[in-house]
Amino acid sequence: MKLSCFLNLCKTRILPDQASARLNGVFLNVNRSNTLKSLFLKQLIKNSFTFLWSGLLLVNFLFTGCSSGTPEKIKLISQNRKVMLAAHRGASEVAPENTLAAIQKALDSPADYIEIDIHQTLDSQLIVMHDATLDRTTNGEGEIAARALAQIKTLDAGSWFKPEFKYEKVPTLEEVLKLVKGRKKLLIELKKGHDFYPGMADETIALLQKYNARNWCVLQSFHDEILQQIWQNEYNVPTHKLIVGKLPMLPVYFDVSFQFGTFDKYYRASAINVHHYFATRGFVKLVHNAGFKTFAWTADDPAEINRLVDRGVDGIMSNAVATLVVQ
Ligand code: G3P
Ligand code: CA
Repeated sequence: MKLSCFLNLCKTRILPDQASARLNGVFLNVNRSNTLKSLFLKQLIKNSFTFLWSGLLLVNFLFTGCSSGTPEKIKLISQNRKVMLAAHRGASEVAPENTLAAIQKALDSPADYIEIDIHQTLDSQLIVMHDATLDRTTNGEGEIAARALAQIKTLDAGSWFKPEFKYEKVPTLEEVLKLVKGRKKLLIELKKGHDFYPGMADETIALLQKYNARNWCVLQSFHDEILQQIWQNEYNVPTHKLIVGKLPMLPVYFDVSFQFGTFDKYYRASAINVHHYFATRGFVKLVHNAGFKTFAWTADDPAEINRLVDRGVDGIMSNAVATLVVQ
């Protein structure tokens, strides 16, 4: 095992942006006083979280290892079951994430599902983007919630990835539904901005109804509030609960903050999806015994994908669906 390999793992962004934002919010709001004592306390809390997180990564790394050999084929059929492959943000290794180009490449790939993220514009339109702001993946800036769709549509959503994608625009959910048309399953992650978007779950369901897409779409979220909005209306569309990870043997898990209790309250969801570092055999057994499936996010290395298949996960999200070779 190489130390550099572990350090690379540590550099990988393993927390969803909103989870990180929530954590940062907690740190920043602990105490805004400028006294030495409060600054020390704040730093101590921050360092403790970093230490805890790095420790969890190290333990997981020691158990799972880190591959450095030649690329291998992935196996998606194991013990007479087919593990689902989901194109994370489309085929985001070969095209700008969450664009129609990435979705088209995912449609041409062996992926069974295409995962996308959605947010809501100022004029209540649902658009496909990971971050709550335009800054990272377009030539615009600011909160999506503060911009109208027409303004967002003028932006270049591809050059940041490669110049050849300079004509890519930020797609709407409606455009993605029209492109996918049931040829693959669509796993739609409902995000939030600074606040929850008003009516977002209802708007999403209305679009699925309009495009007769309820039997080929799945809705997922880290946020219980969003899942509740979906479930409150008893919508006939499958849902997945997203978490980052669960502590072994203790009823403690992390979604956008630490939560205490079992997964029983998610009985209306069909899966509990988890970061691949935490998709251990023990976790898979626990969720299966509780009646859920589990998709692990996000693995690109074939050896890691094969390990996840061996551990019994039901699905794997990967950025690399366009280049992975299936056995
Ligand atoms: O689908 C799970 C995964 O996409 C969650 O993380 O930050 O990539 O949306 P993120
Ligand atoms: Ca996502």
